[in-house]
Order: sequence, then C-alpha cells, then structure tokens
Amino acid sequence: MTFDFGPLLPPGIPAAAVKWTGAPRYNFTGGNNDPDGVPVDGLLAAAQTVLSREGRSLATYGLNSGPQGYRPLRDFLAAKLARDAGMTCSADDILIVSGSLQALDLVHAALLARGDTVICERDCYEGTLNRYARLGVNVVGIPLDSGGMNIDALSAALADLKAKGVRPKFIYTIPTVQNPTATILDENRRHALLALAEQYGVPVFEDDCYADLVWTGQRPPALHAMSQTGNVIHIGSFSKSIAPALRVGFIVAPWTILSRMLALKTDAGSGALEQMVLAEFCAAHFDSHLPDLRRGLRAKLDTLMESLNEQFGTAAEFEEPKGGIFLWVKLPDQVDTMKLYQAALADGVAINPGPNWSADKAHSKSRLRLCFASPSHDDIRAGVARLADICRREFGVPARSANIERGV
Ligand SMILES: Cc1ncc(COP(=O)(O)O)c(C=O)c1O
Repeated sequence: MTFDFGPLLPPGIPAAAVKWTGAPRYNFTGGNNDPDGVPVDGLLAAAQTVLSREGRSLATYGLNSGPQGYRPLRDFLAAKLARDAGMTCSADDILIVSGSLQALDLVHAALLARGDTVICERDCYEGTLNRYARLGVNVVGIPLDSGGMNIDALSAALADLKAKGVRPKFIYTIPTVQNPTATILDENRRHALLALAEQYGVPVFEDDCYADLVWTGQRPPALHAMSQTGNVIHIGSFSKSIAPALRVGFIVAPWTILSRMLALKTDAGSGALEQMVLAEFCAAHFDSHLPDLRRGLRAKLDTLMESLNEQFGTAAEFEEPKGGIFLWVKLPDQVDTMKLYQAALADGVAINPGPNWSADKAHSKSRLRLCFASPSHDDIRAGVARLADICRREFGVPARSANIERGV
C-alpha cells in the first residue's frame, strides 16, 4: 500500500527528484573537487584539537557565537578577505551559511519576487539559473569575452531596461574564475561595472567561490572591496578551497540587508562541527594548503586539454582557464550537447551540456562544461577518448579517430 501524496502537493513545487543510481564511470560533471586535494590529515587533527578544547559548546545552538555562525571562523574570514580580496569587513558583517547555495537562496528570498528582472553573465552557473526559473524572474544575460562580462553590453542592457521602466534587482556576477567560462574580470572592468551599477542604482551580487583557485594565487580585488557605496553583496564558500561536502559558505553584506537574510535563515544555525573544524584548520594551514591544491588542479587541467587536443583536434575549441575546476568547450555547430549528454551518459560519460549553463540556449547549444577536478588523470584521458567516440558516432565529429592511430 502506498499513500497518495499527489493531491496534497501545493502548486508550483519542483518536479520530483530522480533516485540516485550511482556515479557514472567517467564523471566530468558538478563542482566536485580533487579527492587528493582534501587535507584529510589536517582536518582530522583540527577536529581532535577543537573538540577537545570546545566540544562542550555544542550543547548550545550557535556555539555561544550567536546566530551568524562560529565566531573564530568569521574572524578567520574577515582577515583572509581583507588580505586576499582587499575587503574591509569584520566578523559582524559575515553570516555563515550551509554552502553558498543557501547564500543564493537567502539573497533571492530577501530581494526577489516573481516578475522581477535580474542581470547575469550570459553563460552562468546552473544552480543560479534554475533558481531564477523557479522564482519566475526575468533574466537578462550579458555576453562574456575572454575578459569576463562585456561592459559595453552591460551598459546597453541597463539603458534598455531603464527605457522600459525596469529597475533590475541586481547584477549577479561570478567575476573571479567565472562558472562556466573560467574568465576573470580585470580591475578596469570591475571599476566600470561598479560605476554602471551606481549610475543605475542597481546593487551587485558577487559570487566568489572560485577566487582561491587562481593559478597565480593573485586575484583582483573583490567588487565588494572596490565599491564606495556599500552596494555589493558578496558570497563565498569553502567548497572549492577545502571540500564541497562540508557545506560551509558565507555572506558578506551591509547590516541593512544582512539582517534581512539572517531573519530568513530559520534553520537555527549551519552545521557546527564543520565550522569548528574549518576554523581550527584554516587558521594554521589554509595558506599552505592552497598551493598544493592549485598545483594538483592545474596538472589535471593540462591532462584534460592534452586529451581534448589529441582526441578532438581542432573540433574542440577552448580558452585556457586561469584557474578553477572547469573547462568550457565549444564543439562544431552541428553538435547538440543536450543530445550528446544523453548519449554519453548512456555510455558512462557524464558531461554538463552548455544549455543548462547558459541564459541563451542557442548560443550554448554546441558548448559543454567539463569538470577536471574530480576524475583521475587516467580517467580524464579514457573519458575524453570515449566521449570523442560517442560524439563521432552521433554527430560525425571529430572526423578522425585518435583510436585509429592507437590501433584500438
Ligand atoms: C558559482 C557558484 N556559486 C555557488 C555554488 C554553490 O556552492 P556551495 O553551495 O557548495 O558553496 C557553486 C557550486 O558549484 C558555484 O559554482
């Protein structure tokens, strides 16, 4: 007997989730990290130390730190953001959340209503685009080039919206290693973006979760740091720098809006153990951990680019990322990556099709996103070879098989 919940479901809830049936053999999807890059020993030692010292504080919701999150973690973040991103903020300006996905939800809950308009990069994080779709928000996608969001296009879009009497709720941007294009918005463009935001009275929503993964270790100042008017909401995460399964992210924003989001965060605090262990680990080891992580990621990117060149030749076009965990690839126009995605998945290769990562489905039809962080070097090589075979079978490209050369 199964009870029928169907008639009880309220209107507008998302389609049912599908059951997980296991990981695909070659997985280039998601924002997963490099398993060898997780500082397991350091996290273990940090857990032991912090729990021995402060474990009794788990008896209180909020760990005696109040509702904004574990105070030592917020202190670490304030110092780190000042040093690396030029931001002036204190622990009081920071709200710890359960991954930056919760940050997205809180910012959206505080600012968006059905029918609103937001501006974002044309190719954009799927988690954000899906939220806009569910919320019934109009999305204006701004084209990107190798320097990130095209500022002339942003200027034209803002002018156009103003002419129509529309004031966008915010400009959402991933300026430092953009998802999916991996572009970095340079400092001049950051100034220009902020000037436009100010001119049109539109706040900026800066999603900065990849900022620690710039290969050189040098990132431009955060938009939050450069703004003179307190019009930037900044969010970040430990998912890409330490581990996504921890589910720890943060929001930095002026109290006028942070207090609204805090009022909307009704979960009585994000996971305490994760916050405690991170604070303990990061205070001593964050800086020495990052170069190791970046080195490992950079090596995997090289393997992926080599494999694509070998297997796809000129059929796969991409710009070399300056950091991050993704490569955004353009295949010939006849390739429909939504169909390639289905065919590849059936053969054990998971990719992210471009249209899911873009506000412009036509522009992204032949594009795909590959995450190179989590598969091993061997799996990157074998997975790309298999993907090339599937793509040739389905679309006739790449025309020539590297397998023939290998005699397979
Ligand atoms: C741009 C961007 N924002 C937010 C997130 C959410 O990350 P998390 O909730 O793990 O912090 C991701 C994850 O891939 C992302 O790419």
